[in-house]
Amino acid sequence: MIDTTTAQLEKLVTHHRVNENRQTLSLFDENSDRFSLFSAHCGDIVFDYSKCNVSSETMGLLLELATKAKVSGKRQAMFAGEPINSTENRAVQHMALRNMSDAPVMIDGKDVMPDILAVRKDMARFAEAVRSGKVAGKGGKFTDIVNIGIGGSDLGPVMATAALGPFHDGPNTHFVSNVDGADILEVLKKVNPATTLFIVASKTFTTQETMTNANTARQWLVNALGEGAVVNQFAALSTSLDKTSAFGIADDRAFGFWDWVGGRYSIWSAIGLPLMIAIGSKRFDEFLSGAHTVDQHFETAPDNQNLPVLMALIGIWHRNVCGYDTHAVLPYDQYLHRFPAYLQQLDMESNGKRIDVNGKSVAHETGPVVWGEPGTNGQHAFYQLIHQGTSVIPADFLVAAEAAEPVGDHHEKLVANAFAQTEALMVGKTEAQARKELHDKGMDANAIDKLAPHKMFPGNRPTCTFLYPKLTPFVLGQLVALYEHKVFVQGAIWNINSFDQWGVELGKELAGELLPVVKGEQKAMGRNSSTVGLVDAFHAMRK
Ligand code: F6P
Repeated sequence: MIDTTTAQLEKLVTHHRVNENRQTLSLFDENSDRFSLFSAHCGDIVFDYSKCNVSSETMGLLLELATKAKVSGKRQAMFAGEPINSTENRAVQHMALRNMSDAPVMIDGKDVMPDILAVRKDMARFAEAVRSGKVAGKGGKFTDIVNIGIGGSDLGPVMATAALGPFHDGPNTHFVSNVDGADILEVLKKVNPATTLFIVASKTFTTQETMTNANTARQWLVNALGEGAVVNQFAALSTSLDKTSAFGIADDRAFGFWDWVGGRYSIWSAIGLPLMIAIGSKRFDEFLSGAHTVDQHFETAPDNQNLPVLMALIGIWHRNVCGYDTHAVLPYDQYLHRFPAYLQQLDMESNGKRIDVNGKSVAHETGPVVWGEPGTNGQHAFYQLIHQGTSVIPADFLVAAEAAEPVGDHHEKLVANAFAQTEALMVGKTEAQARKELHDKGMDANAIDKLAPHKMFPGNRPTCTFLYPKLTPFVLGQLVALYEHKVFVQGAIWNINSFDQWGVELGKELAGELLPVVKGEQKAMGRNSSTVGLVDAFHAMRK
């Protein structure tokens, strides 16, 4: 017997088949008020999904899917601190980190808010002391902060620090993540050892890339200033505070968090310290408040007005019903240039799963490939495929009403491009229209026959638009939390655990096995001939 979610997805597939030739544009003709009907608000953000090919009947079926998949009960379980990360037996409570109310948050019968507030206070005290110069390096006030971390211990701070560039009034921040030595080398070339603070960010404090970079940075600092500098110029962010002190980091420079904070959900925790140092603790609190607003909305708004639920359902429509494999995120906001990379980890590490919470293979597709680049750059690179390629690529457009830093009429031009793209993708251009245009330009019939097919656009390509007043810390907090909860809702519907990441382990294990082989300390015995051949060729090239 198929489960109710699969049965409902099948209903949606039938509905899609019946409406296969439906044009989104004609839905606007049928209902002149389509924008009001198919858009919703949360906090400062307007979410317009009216340019997706959905009708009221489609949305009804999708909302029924959310009900049948018991999204509401699963959401309650998450907010109640139940161990919904079943393969690691952990609660999922990143919302507690941005709980700006006085309400307690219980995990395992304990209110976790006092610990959270204590760490946040310590972080703020340290961040403000670094910003003011009260906490300084051997050469005086810190001019540079180097955050060493990877994945969730890097992408969140990198993305948010870039996004909030106009609010950055603290020391310069640099981020080192890759085990490729070039990453740390290029940063070390730019900074002065006597005025640089290193922050080692790692939930586990065992990640190969981070520990390798941290040791290289440590050695570089010791070479320049002596062993004594480590205690003064290193800080750590981790759940493993025993390991941070073994590294030589002073206890009052080690900021903790907890195993119920997933790495890719950790920007709200101590992992946010480089951001806090960059923009100040008050603005960091505004960032948390933005996310808290979304948490409250997500917990209480009815499904048909609930932005994360609507975002998730539109995504499911595209992925499971229409069969679109990828999802583009296109910020028309240069400051959000790392947002697509951030969302790649959030979405693909969370929902890139093929086994459900009961250990069975899922009966449907799960997370799409998420990718993107800021507009308008993407327009001159890959939009050709989005407009005229054989794959349909649903896309999110993110647009600010006001520029974070206004320059002439740049912002109006940027916004005109964003709106134009969503319209062009939906409306398209028929061959008849293309022919008429060419004819009006005086082209002869023969040339029109040749060129017209290339000038037509199929249209009907779905986009959602997020419009926000301006990219402030508060708005950024809202945007990130919206996507986090979207990922949760989709995972709930697909019945997968969005909070583990076993898929990253095998590669790590094999890298560990291959390291002595690559170093020439062991032979690549018993491995496949491709790996053996590559290892041999590698050694031959280095001779
Ligand atoms: O390899 C994946 C991962 O475990 C991510 O989930 C995590 O964000 C990243 O590695 C870094 O882990 P850590 O913070 O423990 O160094």
